[in-house]
Amino acid sequence: MSSSPTSPTAATDPDWWRTAVVYQVYPRSFADSNGDGIGDLGGLLSRLPYLAELGVDAIWLSPFYPSPLADGGYDISDYRDVDPRLGTLADFDRIVTTAHGLGIKIIVDIVPNHTSDQHPWFREALASPVGSPARDRYIFRDGTGPDGATPPANWVSHFGGPAWERTDDGQWYCHLFAKEQPDLNWENPQVRQYFKDTLRFWADRGVDGFRIDVAHSLAKDLSHPLRDQPNLDRSLPLDGTDPLYDREEVHTIYQEWREVFNEYDPPRMAVAETWSPANERTYLYARPTELGQVFDFSLLKSEWGADRFRAVIDQAIAGHAGTGGGLTWVLSSHDVPRHASRLALPEGTDPDEWLNTDGRHPVLDAHLGLDRARAATLMMLALPGSPYLYQGEELGLPEVPDIAHEALQDPVWERTGHALKGRDGARVPLPWTRTGTSFGFGDDGAWLPQPPAFGELSVEAQDGVEGSTLEMYRQALRLRRNHPGLRGSDFAWTEAPSQCLSFDRGPGFRCVVNLSDICVPLPDDAQVLMASNRLADGQLPPNHTAWLTIP
Ligand code: GLC
Ligand code: CA
Repeated sequence: MSSSPTSPTAATDPDWWRTAVVYQVYPRSFADSNGDGIGDLGGLLSRLPYLAELGVDAIWLSPFYPSPLADGGYDISDYRDVDPRLGTLADFDRIVTTAHGLGIKIIVDIVPNHTSDQHPWFREALASPVGSPARDRYIFRDGTGPDGATPPANWVSHFGGPAWERTDDGQWYCHLFAKEQPDLNWENPQVRQYFKDTLRFWADRGVDGFRIDVAHSLAKDLSHPLRDQPNLDRSLPLDGTDPLYDREEVHTIYQEWREVFNEYDPPRMAVAETWSPANERTYLYARPTELGQVFDFSLLKSEWGADRFRAVIDQAIAGHAGTGGGLTWVLSSHDVPRHASRLALPEGTDPDEWLNTDGRHPVLDAHLGLDRARAATLMMLALPGSPYLYQGEELGLPEVPDIAHEALQDPVWERTGHALKGRDGARVPLPWTRTGTSFGFGDDGAWLPQPPAFGELSVEAQDGVEGSTLEMYRQALRLRRNHPGLRGSDFAWTEAPSQCLSFDRGPGFRCVVNLSDICVPLPDDAQVLMASNRLADGQLPPNHTAWLTIP
């Protein structure tokens, strides 16, 4: 199979990101080049041809910056360097050049809500007096109650417990994530300048875009006294009234960043991460005057079901219609259980509860999970917009629910007092070969244990094997790039059997998804371009998707 680099015209198309297939690399778990058990930039460099052959348009690299790893690299101690365990800036430059040569763009992660507690700014803040300019870069406050022993407000950490930590001199600082991730004060002009210069630092090195971590939390209501969060239920959509999230002022920051992106030719792209149920406010981050894209996690949060998928797709398309932003789709990421497992959970099961049983209650039907994952993926890849893939989903990797408690690394595990296992099960290092101490991830072990079943899911086991998940992804991405019916933004539902979805894209292209539990016939005049699995006597089996040409 040959890779097909994008044409020179496509390479400079300023709107390339609107339809790009983006592949997320979690560097520590991708490929290890020096046998220390930690994936690194050398490993990624050596596997770029694999990604070119897979057919992705861009790679989004989760943080590879110097980090004490209190939160898997999302705690950054230097925003403009590479963690020495992962490589050097020269290695990074080699990745950019090589990827570009293969027609692949590079997107890097920007984490502006918080730094590491080992960042020089935070060390300086701790060493400086109360009320000093060094402290003003973060959110330090006196506590309330007798002796100031009660946190300044009711704000809670995403990882469990209060969002406040007390320092030796009695003040408290805010951390919406781990205590090793102090939140920055975005009203401070130095903070604002630092991040604009950081964007330029990476854009000057040739990166094509940015993924903005917790993009909706930078602008906080810091009026005195601090306001409590009126509602701590994260399952509800935001409405602009929370003191921490999705405040109107946050958009000014991204308007300023847009000016930075537009200093480049083509303008750099960006995608916002905002974790809250998507609503019309979510899509505002994707306005062309701001970031251009915002992750739509509705598909990733949706359970299996025709009505559910349809509602999610309708909402996303309608929601973007007025804003000019680009559509995105996500089924898996480093933050949630992999969709090959999630979609096999019985209806109404909370994935975290299942993880808490180490995957024993219920024991999942791996076949069903994989069938549904492949069907959902093929549906996603037929939608207009930009799908984000997470490393290993092209192998059909399941969530690893039974990592030994002693081996867990996610801060969620400790901070919740072992009530939640966290996200390690989606971060287990990739299997490249059938055998070997870490299935070809590196020459030695892997920083999280891999289950024996990973061998038969490895790249080696699937490469060139007809019907494998890897070959399904390759074929779908090839067609997506070449089929005229998959270009453009046309989309229309067509009539479908009960519990099935059917939609048309551009000229002659139709996608049919069977979410029912019986085989369904395909339209008489259709020709099958590909399917997520074998058809049964020309019929589409349950949990399958087909791409069709229609006259
Ligand atoms: C985002 C990242 C997640 C990280 C958090 C704090 O949600 O995706 O992995 O823990 O931000 O930076
Ligand atoms: Ca390594």
